[in-house]
Amino acid sequence: MSRVRPHQPLALVTGASSGIGEALAGQFAAAGHDLVLVARSADKLQALAAALRTRHGVTVRVEPADLAVPHAAAALAARLDRAGLSVDVLVNNAGVLAQGAFVRQEASVHRQMIDLNITALTALLSAFVPAMAQRGAGRVLNVASIAAFQPVPSLATYAATKAYVLSLTESLAVELRDSGVTVTALCPGITATPMLDSAAAANAQVSRLPGMLIGRVEEVAREGFAACMNGDVICVPGAVNQAAVLASRGTPKWLLRRVAGLFGRKTGQF
Ligand SMILES: NC(=O)c1ccc[n+]([C@@H]2O[C@H](COP(=O)([O-])OP(=O)(O)OC[C@H]3O[C@@H](n4cnc5c(N)ncnc54)[C@H](OP(=O)(O)O)[C@@H]3O)[C@@H](O)[C@H]2O)c1
Repeated sequence: MSRVRPHQPLALVTGASSGIGEALAGQFAAAGHDLVLVARSADKLQALAAALRTRHGVTVRVEPADLAVPHAAAALAARLDRAGLSVDVLVNNAGVLAQGAFVRQEASVHRQMIDLNITALTALLSAFVPAMAQRGAGRVLNVASIAAFQPVPSLATYAATKAYVLSLTESLAVELRDSGVTVTALCPGITATPMLDSAAAANAQVSRLPGMLIGRVEEVAREGFAACMNGDVICVPGAVNQAAVLASRGTPKWLLRRVAGLFGRKTGQF
């Protein structure tokens, strides 16, 4: 990709082929960022790239990749380096979720979540943030979840991976405070995306969730984009989710575990 407008900031968005990542790519493009779109589905990325070029006049590069494969992040960074591109904004959004009792899930299911949600996210930070710090400018948006704030029986490994993302983000935000690089954790509640469709297909209870608990993807992306550009450390989109996080912070851990356990058992999730 030859960058026609070299002064435009470049945002790299992982998991851009659907859901929150696709919506975040739209937000950055609308604000004039050139883009690198990453996910496994090359056809969906190409379609999104074409739409964003037409709608916003930005330059979009498509980089199909399975980020869960070892060294995928380093290989991606090397390809961009060879193309003379430096990433100004890293949006670490790609993630997977598997629901159910821990003991009934194969080891490979836990590994897939850890490989993508933790290992790939960390490798991408390691590949791109040192250069940002050296340049004295950059932004990172790590997509965690409200599941990061408390244990979630039936989503045990997933919630643990998101707690990692939140903790890492908070530490890096402090480490990088005077470097010109900001680090933000976007912590959405339940959001209407293909991930929610898959969870509903696996568990009928999920499809019966009240609508007020389900966030709109465009709204989540809009709030995440604003928080990233503002350099906020934590962004919890939506009043219902903010209230839930506040309540969980004010509740003793033993009680949180008990309530979460009761809810999970009642809804037959483990
Ligand atoms: N939806 C929710 O309720 C919710 C709530 C809180 C947090 N989140 C978080 O938000 C993020 C986005 O989720 P979403 O709801 O938008 O889900 P989604 O629509 O399923 O999107 C997931 C994205 O990740 C990509 N991806 C999956 N495996 C990958 C891999 N191995 N390598 C590269 N890309 C991969 C997918 O693309 P390909 O399949 O094309 O690779 C897709 O673009 C995740 O981190 C999720 O944990 C979601």
